[in-house]
Amino acid sequence: MILVYSLGGSILAGCDAKSLQEYADALRHLSEEHQIYAVVGGGRIAREYIEKARALGAPEIFCDLIGIEATKLNSALLVAALGSAASQEVPSSYAQAVCLACPGRVVVMGGVAPGQTTDAVAALLAEYVRADRLIIATSVDGVYTADPERDPKAQRIGSMTHRELSRMAAQTEMKAGSRSPIDPLAAKIIERSAIPTSIVLGSNIENLKKGALGGHTGTEIRQG
Ligand code: UTP
Repeated sequence: MILVYSLGGSILAGCDAKSLQEYADALRHLSEEHQIYAVVGGGRIAREYIEKARALGAPEIFCDLIGIEATKLNSALLVAALGSAASQEVPSSYAQAVCLACPGRVVVMGGVAPGQTTDAVAALLAEYVRADRLIIATSVDGVYTADPERDPKAQRIGSMTHRELSRMAAQTEMKAGSRSPIDPLAAKIIERSAIPTSIVLGSNIENLKKGALGGHTGTEIRQG
């Protein structure tokens, strides 16, 4: 199978070297049977730098470009952990990502263009490579009916359609470093190409496999 992972920067960047190695080992193991693309987010570093740049009066596009640099830094860490199991170059375009793919080698990629997040990059890459599945490994264990940090009545949604995800995402704020379960652009891409998608808790390494092969407890995005 061709699998595209969106690995939230909040997960990878918060990892110590040992956990990063475990993450890399899980991806390497999956790459023995599947073609793996991993798109890495910017996490805390992106948010800190974006906040400071914004406070200094930088325009939003400038903040986005800072965010992209943070995603590339985190990508470099994952490449370091994967060693020879990763393509050593971090591609800056979808076409380049495809050129770097080969059996047993994970292609690691960060941000591409301002005005989006790495979830959108992963969704576009999934479209580009005709992926069998997109796995969004994030800091929450799926999509909730409301923000679980603010609303104690929020419930996790086990399964929803592409259109439902897209409608929900459309209500989120679009700003550099914005905190939302999924980027509206990513949701739209997933909807237009009906990409089978799982949204899972990324801090649980087992979910990398379960998100692809089934058995996870996150949210499954299905055709309506
Ligand atoms: P992330 O993809 O990390 O966003 O990109 P996020 O929603 O904070 O995700 P987590 O928390 O890591 O899971 C960080 C920022 O980098 C810019 C955006 O400003 C985004 O908010 N960015 C990233 C882009 O402008 N374009 C890209 O292609 C990727």
